[in-house]
Amino acid sequence: MTTITVSAIKADVGGYVGHSDTHPRVREAVESSLTDHADILEGFHVTSAGDDLQLVLTHRQGIDDERIHELAWGAFERGTAVAEDLGLYGAGQDLLSEAFSGNVRGLGPGAAELEFTERPSDPIVVFAMDKTEPGAFNLPMYKVFGDPFNTPGLVIDPSMNEGFSFEIWDIEENRKVFLETPEDAHELLALIGAPSRYVIKRVYPREGNKNDPAEPVASVSTEKLVDVAGEYVGKDDPVAVVRSQSGLPAIGEVLEPFTFPHMVSGWMRGSHVGPMMPVPMEYSQTSRFDGPPRCIAAGFQVTNGNLVGPNDLFDDVAFDRARKQANEQADYLREHGPFEPHRLPLEELEYTTLPEIMDALSEDWQRMDSSEGVPEETTAKPVE
Ligand code: F6R
Ligand code: MG
Ligand code: MG
Repeated sequence: MTTITVSAIKADVGGYVGHSDTHPRVREAVESSLTDHADILEGFHVTSAGDDLQLVLTHRQGIDDERIHELAWGAFERGTAVAEDLGLYGAGQDLLSEAFSGNVRGLGPGAAELEFTERPSDPIVVFAMDKTEPGAFNLPMYKVFGDPFNTPGLVIDPSMNEGFSFEIWDIEENRKVFLETPEDAHELLALIGAPSRYVIKRVYPREGNKNDPAEPVASVSTEKLVDVAGEYVGKDDPVAVVRSQSGLPAIGEVLEPFTFPHMVSGWMRGSHVGPMMPVPMEYSQTSRFDGPPRCIAAGFQVTNGNLVGPNDLFDDVAFDRARKQANEQADYLREHGPFEPHRLPLEELEYTTLPEIMDALSEDWQRMDSSEGVPEETTAKPVE
């Protein structure tokens, strides 16, 4: 049986207005490009979250396929041309390379892809976040696949009883580790509780699950724009694809973590902590203080390779309380102005424009001496 691949590929090719939203004409241009090259696709849908566009593509080419990535790149290029015509903000922002070469990874866009054997009915959720980083998915993914208080299926469904295997990437050291729940839960949390460094890349079923343990059931984009560009060009707002039901967490279990607006890095200037707010697609624009960070959930049935959907899954009054709580948390944090912990710690601001401000002060610093109680050996150092 041939497998189907779902590729969610995202980029910010121009903000309308500022970094708040996308423009409908850019989206139309991207859609028209996909239509023109649809011969290798089974299905496609274009969605948006804040200033990012996501291409949801189904095809038979497997993950990391050059033709699929080139097609996505071409669609973003066509969108960029319209964004430039309209003078949109940061037109072409995430297309960091002059030309496509092999794979969108490392060139600016982010990608989350899953290849799997299609079941008789295959529900998936494509999540897209704006104004945050890939590690923002750590907490919800852990809850979905590792926490029985979120996912009773781990306790009740024999197929899920063995738990799941998590592929964790250390995005600073470029290494990865596989940890399995429930037995490795504490080590897993030791890592993913530091989401700016350790990110959940994929989740796999374990032996005993009626789904193939070799086929991942969740995937998160982990590209790091700052490393690609060498300077800050915005947070690399992530996408994720999650498969659901029939031996996997139910749609309701997949969405449940978002009833808690957890704190993430990003928001204004990629330099603040803010609550993750689940929103219907029509409310994805990030206008208050360039945020707060938010997430949309596009549900699809993958049927004979086609995408039936999207169903706008956060368009449910049951998430109203989370949104209210997120706005209250946002108010509380905003009262701190430029103070930590609303502002990120210094090491996380290394790639922003803050070091320029610090450098400008470097001449003004005066070395302190023993008359001010500083030990002699440290006062001998020259002022840098
Ligand atoms: C956050 C983000 C925005 C910008 C901010 C300043 O990821 O993209 O908050 O950092 O609007 O943008 P510039 O420096 O382009 O004026
Ligand atoms: Mg932007
Ligand atoms: Mg964005």
